[in-house]
Amino acid sequence: MKESMLLTFLTLYSTSSAAASAVVPTELFSPLIPQKIANTANSLPSPIQYPQYTTTWNVTNPGIWLDFIPDTWTSGFFPASLYALNTREALCGATSANALGIADWLELGRSTSTGLIPLETNNTNLQHDVGFVSFPFSEELLINPQNQTAIDAVNAFATDLAARFNPIVGCTRSWNTADPTDFTVIIDNMMNLEVLWASYALTRNETLKYIANTHATTTMINHFREDGSTWHVVEYNSTTGDVIRKRTSQGYANWSTWSRGQAWAIYGFANMYNHSQNADFLRTAQRAATYFLDHIPSDGIVPWDFNAPLDPPPRPADSSAATIAANGLLLLAQVDPTQADKWTNAAINILQSITELAWNPAWQSLLSNGTVNWPANNFLTGIVYGDYYYITAANTLVQMGLAKC
Ligand SMILES: *[C@@H]1O[C@H](CO)[C@@H](O)[C@H](O)[C@H]1NC(C)=O
Ligand SMILES: *[C@@H]1O[C@H](CO)[C@@H](O)[C@H](O)[C@H]1NC(C)=O
Ligand SMILES: *[C@@H]1O[C@H](CO)[C@@H](O)[C@H](O)[C@H]1NC(C)=O
Ligand SMILES: *[C@@H]1O[C@H](CO)[C@@H](O)[C@H](O)[C@H]1NC(C)=O
Ligand SMILES: *[C@@H]1O[C@H](CO)[C@@H](O)[C@H](O)[C@H]1NC(C)=O
Ligand SMILES: *[C@@H]1O[C@H](CO)[C@@H](O)[C@H](O)[C@H]1NC(C)=O
Ligand SMILES: *[C@@H]1O[C@H](CO)[C@@H](O)[C@H](O)[C@H]1NC(C)=O
Ligand SMILES: *[C@@H]1O[C@H](CO)[C@@H](O)[C@H](O)[C@H]1NC(C)=O
Repeated sequence: MKESMLLTFLTLYSTSSAAASAVVPTELFSPLIPQKIANTANSLPSPIQYPQYTTTWNVTNPGIWLDFIPDTWTSGFFPASLYALNTREALCGATSANALGIADWLELGRSTSTGLIPLETNNTNLQHDVGFVSFPFSEELLINPQNQTAIDAVNAFATDLAARFNPIVGCTRSWNTADPTDFTVIIDNMMNLEVLWASYALTRNETLKYIANTHATTTMINHFREDGSTWHVVEYNSTTGDVIRKRTSQGYANWSTWSRGQAWAIYGFANMYNHSQNADFLRTAQRAATYFLDHIPSDGIVPWDFNAPLDPPPRPADSSAATIAANGLLLLAQVDPTQADKWTNAAINILQSITELAWNPAWQSLLSNGTVNWPANNFLTGIVYGDYYYITAANTLVQMGLAKC
């Protein structure tokens, strides 16, 4: 018994192996996290709008949140961050050093979620992103499974996404297009499948499960290249199901690999495997992760696109791709126990590198160096989902016994 515990200790903390470089950064548990998030929560506009990204480096006041109307794909991440701090307080307790006692996170999560509720019946911009917007309601259901408002929201968002399913294509439609026969699916859409599982858990409606599995299977076939990298966009003909073209929207080139898309793929397929136990999805998550890790440059910084040239510069980082990938790798570690050490070490290394580069005490966001959309000239910002996944990665490390608060 003692020997096996010692072995476990040595495996996790050995200073003489490759694993030694993976050190959990203390910033993940900094009091600045609750302090900044509470300040942002207490200064949201009325009627409510939600932060998405910050002002950028070359203005007089960089790092200031820019707020967007609720009918925006990113609206759920700030309320979900408040629920994540509620989870953290439960995991870590509140001390004067960690500042987790400065706010009632559950109350803030609940009150800031109210701006999302009208979207159940009235949204035009969300399209497939109803899944992301459902996250705070799924968090609420972990706390109070009887909360009817949250139950109704999850079921309504799932119904919205299910209505975008086309059985000829075998996918839910991501973006609406002027020509409705041009059926566009982006790799990001893998993340929205979670709301179908959340609603399935509430309703046992098998159609939702069928749609999630079918979308993932079609995406596995058409979005992946031989080397485990992904296309950002696949366009199908909605009447024939044929692939019309494969291309990028936010990446460097049509053939290149946009790092945030690759990160969504790791997380999305690990999540699909957890729910379905379909081994093809596990292999797909492993392939996506392996490509991601093999293409991080030697400085450890995740670039916004793995194929964007260093010369000519710049090739900015995307801190959000880094934190999403870290969460995807931690999820993969939990569902792929035989390789858990490899995936957790990789996740911690990514968190360490991005903290060194982008942890930014002076900004309202936790991290800088996010690339929202390089082709649209929107980069070097804080990003709300980059911060959300920074917080959740730390919580997951504690839950997995890999970090102390
Ligand atoms: C900041 O940089 C961006 C991208 O280089 C440029 O488009 C924008 O005009 C700059 N803004 C200011 C205020 O200099
Ligand atoms: C139920 O959930 C909603 C949405 O998350 C929240 O606004 C509301 O406060 C919750 N109600 C109760 C009684 O906790
Ligand atoms: C739907 O939402 C829009 C804002 O996104 C608002 O202007 C409109 O009044 C809403 N419609 C209904 C029926 O609530
Ligand atoms: C199950 O979900 C599908 C997709 O939203 C819907 O069309 C169907 O009516 C649901 N079935 C039941 C029994 O509610
Ligand atoms: C899809 O196929 C139909 C039938 O062949 C054709 O009329 C339509 O133009 C195609 N749409 C696209 C976007 O290629
Ligand atoms: C992708 O290909 C299309 C033509 O099929 C072209 O118009 C577009 O500029 C290409 N995108 C990039 C980023 O190279
Ligand atoms: C896996 O899915 C189950 C529900 O099917 C869920 O309860 C569990 O939290 C998930 N595991 C992880 C690590 O997300
Ligand atoms: C990170 O952001 C800073 C400004 O906040 C910028 O000077 C630096 O070039 C960025 N680094 C990368 C790799 O994007």
